[in-house]
Amino acid sequence: TMSEVKKIAVIAGDGIGPEVVAEAIKVMKKTEELFGYKFEFQHGLFGGIAIDEKGTPLPQETLEICQSSDAVLLGAVGGPKWDNNSKELRPETGLLGIRKALGLFSNIRPAVVFDCLKDASTLKPEVLDGTDLIVVRELTGGIYFGEKFRREGAQGEEAVDTCVYNVTEIERIVRQAFEVAQKRSKRLASVDKANVLETSRLWRETVNRIAPEYPDVEVEHVLVDNCAMQLLRRPSSFDVIVTENMFGDILSDEAAMLTGSIGMLSSASLGEGSFGLYEPVHGSAPDIAGQGIANPIATILSVALMFRLTFGYEDAANAIETAVKNVLNAGHRTGDIATDKSQAIGTTAMGDLIVAELAK
Ligand code: NAI
Ligand code: MG
Repeated sequence: TMSEVKKIAVIAGDGIGPEVVAEAIKVMKKTEELFGYKFEFQHGLFGGIAIDEKGTPLPQETLEICQSSDAVLLGAVGGPKWDNNSKELRPETGLLGIRKALGLFSNIRPAVVFDCLKDASTLKPEVLDGTDLIVVRELTGGIYFGEKFRREGAQGEEAVDTCVYNVTEIERIVRQAFEVAQKRSKRLASVDKANVLETSRLWRETVNRIAPEYPDVEVEHVLVDNCAMQLLRRPSSFDVIVTENMFGDILSDEAAMLTGSIGMLSSASLGEGSFGLYEPVHGSAPDIAGQGIANPIATILSVALMFRLTFGYEDAANAIETAVKNVLNAGHRTGDIATDKSQAIGTTAMGDLIVAELAK
């Protein structure tokens, strides 16, 4: 029901993390007022600040806050202060740890080209027209996690990386992608290298076996090299792309660059069920931290993703996305997306404008 309280773990982190998260919370609070939602925010320490205050990037109590929540909103972690720490005392180790502990096996990254920001991209505006896609990347299997070793071969030293996928791992991510596609324009591109790789052949068989359960979704198989080309040639032809870990790593970064600005990119990491961790794609931006000039839109759009994918609050998700679009169309820009830097507005001003637009 509308009045059901949703628990949200808020992990602001380091650098610009707390600055952008504060704006996202303002937006969520406004939706409580406008849509009758009820949120309970539980704040946790994470990353560099947790290393300083608790001696570990991922304190047990932070993990417990996440585990007892319906969703997590994460800012960003890291910074030069901790760069030379040992592995256990690095903020990024906390990121891997939290994803693993929460069983997050997929990473979802939208790449949306806003009409009024087309000049921020390196591609021609006519190529970008209508681009609004999502990459669903498998996050916990494949070659990044397979057995790795060195050995002495007949022609000198050899290095071996193995790529393993089991049918259960493939099935769960593929199902999730079908469900995401059902909430969008119902087109799914499954990306593999089935002409060469055995893991890709199992991937493709699994997609084909499951597809009849989602008859409303139109599935297409695309070879990864072709996908890399099509993303640059006709990005608007894609809606949801689902792929394995390494292909997804590369393709999601390629897709991100269609949009031109890191300050605009949101992401979700999902596991079984509706639980998810939502965060901007960008890092802690130590070069601009503390100046009040970071773009909060990536984090605000991550809230829209949370509303859509974890809570099913489709109306509010759409309202947030429309508010962002309208504020940009009205010409408001933070420094990272401004052509005339002297006209740029700050983090809280941008948050305030989006909140005001929501209320219209
Ligand atoms: P970064 O994304 O923090 O910054 C790259 C460039 O983009 C910088 O010039 C920064 O000022 C700008 N930028 C980033 N977000 C912005 C925003 N919202 N508004 C305006 N400008 C923005 O990546 P970088 O510099 O490689 O990493 C900085 C730190 O962040 C490192 O410690 C890194 O390990 C960490 N990091 C953390 C991530 C996370 O928490 N998920 C992801 C990526 C990096
Ligand atoms: Mg990457």
